[in-house]
Amino acid sequence: MYQGLIHRYREFLPVTAKTPIVTLSEGNTPLIYSEDLSSRTGLKVYLKYEGLNPTGSFKDRGMTMAISKAKEKGAKIVMCASTGNTSASAAAYAARSGSMKCIVLIPDGNIALGKLAQAMIHNAKVLAIQGNFDDALDLVKAITQKYPVELVNSINPFRIEGQKTAAFEVCDDLTDAPEFHAIPVGNAGNITAYWKGYNEYKKIGKAKQLPKMLGFQAAGAAPIVLGKVVKDPKTIATAIKIGNPASWKQAEAARDESKGLIDSVTDKEIIDAYKILAAHSGIFAEPGSAASVAGLLKLKAQGYFDKHKGARVVCTLTGHGLKDPDNAIKNVEAPVKIKADLKAVLKEIGL
Ligand code: F0G
Repeated sequence: MYQGLIHRYREFLPVTAKTPIVTLSEGNTPLIYSEDLSSRTGLKVYLKYEGLNPTGSFKDRGMTMAISKAKEKGAKIVMCASTGNTSASAAAYAARSGSMKCIVLIPDGNIALGKLAQAMIHNAKVLAIQGNFDDALDLVKAITQKYPVELVNSINPFRIEGQKTAAFEVCDDLTDAPEFHAIPVGNAGNITAYWKGYNEYKKIGKAKQLPKMLGFQAAGAAPIVLGKVVKDPKTIATAIKIGNPASWKQAEAARDESKGLIDSVTDKEIIDAYKILAAHSGIFAEPGSAASVAGLLKLKAQGYFDKHKGARVVCTLTGHGLKDPDNAIKNVEAPVKIKADLKAVLKEIGL
């Protein structure tokens, strides 16, 4: 029986026999080949669908580690700042621990409905601040430095350790690393984690090569692309609405060491990719997740892959589309309202 990623990848993770493992059987997500995106790009496109983790995002990989280690240390309270998914995951794993309270700081009015519902139903103390994610993270850092409260944002190194297992799974599935890996970038923990995972697998011979890391920020929240902090980030993709990423330097290192790039995609490119994914690959991922596919399509149009026909590219789809029903409904036509009448139905469907 699958027992979660700590069990599966224990030898690569900083746990001991004494670590109480808090798990919801996260990880082991499917790598789904997309015929549609492959034919659009001339590449072999695989989608790492992280929306199928227990709370619907990749954060669960890091959270099983962070919460297990917090419990081992005897922590009673964990805390995070979040654009939504981290708070949902932290709340669920703290509940699962049976011994810890969770406090989350979110930017008021700027998190998707499903994520807010998750944090609340898992019984976290949810504080909606009148500020953005970066303000929330500054507050959490100040509090956790001073008080006996465990920080579970991705600056907690155990988060990165857990998240690197996604790269292991990709290599295990493909029997090597792909040539390219496309990923959304917000606080920049995940690109850091994948790069660490790929390097660890290469070192022990489980991967023969390393991928070029292709990171994508939303155009209105692209500090790494611009080379400067964005004070008032703006994007429809609230998950990655971050102006001062905590793992900025590590993301640049992943980009430079892998000879990849970090670029930006507009909200329109994000929504187009979001709809293409849902309508032609059958996968519903949240808007922030679609940044990886938006970036892939942007680079294709620019000729970036011209010399790489047939190369394998993995796009991480970081969170489930159901997290953000408002954006889905806003971007499609409303249902046609008709009478409960056979003739009316037949007429509407053209039969
Ligand atoms: N995609 C989704 C769906 C996310 O929720 C996040 C980050 C990212 C991508 C970016 O990952 O921060 O490691 O670069 N969400 C965080 C949160 C910030 O609070 O849930 P990153």
